Amino acid sequence: MKRFAGKTILVTGSAGDIGRAVAVRFAREGAGLALLDIADQEKTLAEVNEAGAAQVRTYQCDVSDYAQVDRTVSQVITDFGAVDMLFNNAGYQGAFSKTHTYDPEDFAKVMNINVIGAFHVLRRVSEHMADRGSGAVVNTASMAGVEGPPNMVGYGCSKFAVVGMTETASKDLAPCGIRVNAISPAFMGPGFMWTRQVELQAEAGSQYFDSDPDRVAEQMIAQVPMRRYGDITEIPGTVVFLMSDDASYITGVNIPIAGGIL
Ligand SMILES: NC(=O)c1ccc[n+]([C@@H]2O[C@H](COP(=O)([O-])OP(=O)(O)OC[C@H]3O[C@@H](n4cnc5c(N)ncnc54)[C@H](O)[C@@H]3O)[C@@H](O)[C@H]2O)c1
Repeated sequence: MKRFAGKTILVTGSAGDIGRAVAVRFAREGAGLALLDIADQEKTLAEVNEAGAAQVRTYQCDVSDYAQVDRTVSQVITDFGAVDMLFNNAGYQGAFSKTHTYDPEDFAKVMNINVIGAFHVLRRVSEHMADRGSGAVVNTASMAGVEGPPNMVGYGCSKFAVVGMTETASKDLAPCGIRVNAISPAFMGPGFMWTRQVELQAEAGSQYFDSDPDRVAEQMIAQVPMRRYGDITEIPGTVVFLMSDDASYITGVNIPIAGGIL
């Protein structure tokens, strides 16, 4: 069903796994796609074109630099006429280390991308949406922003901040006709993110996880009520719902995509 025909979605982190999967789904549902990432987007571009994207453009931009975000969003508005929906999703997982050994520079990097970067994009796009009197935003948080996982003090803090930003922004922007919600994926796999997380938790040498990655994988899955990791393809449907008129009375909500509450 092309329920987003004539609408434009701006997706950040669109070179990554989740951003790409969401972009492909919106391409199938008829939306125009403004795809923003600091990285090369060849793979995403090929997949959205194969999915029949009505209109698509890629933009290279570092979300942690407000001048770049301002310039890029202005260009998107010029190219597409308007932005109806924002999937504010670019992110960086950071190092895995206990709090007392965590690298301060990496902590700052995580905050710069996940919190300040997410704010920059939300700030600029919501200004445009407020002028138009309508819009829908979905921020990508994480279950790490709901319960503080061990060895991830940077990432966990940053995603708690994204949940807080979602709640405050939903209140500030409701009078402007803009809804702001969040999704919180937990363990997603198989693939690079899952394998990397398992390996890094094993290497972190904490009392919470084994030093054998295979055993860590079992320990992580044992935390999930549904006893499996999620597939990336299980994410876009929730984003589509939150952007759609079916969610017209829903704002300020953070939906776990986590096989239950960890
Ligand atoms: N995969 C998971 O298990 C999982 C779970 C919970 C939350 N998340 C969150 O989902 C979002 C997407 O993650 P993913 O799994 O697709 O990871 P990913 O690494 O595949 O994608 C992240 C994307 O963000 C981009 N990015 C990083 N820094 C940027 C910057 N400064 N400016 C612009 N773009 C930048 C990267 O280039 C990359 O394309 C992130 O916010 C992540 O924290 C992922």
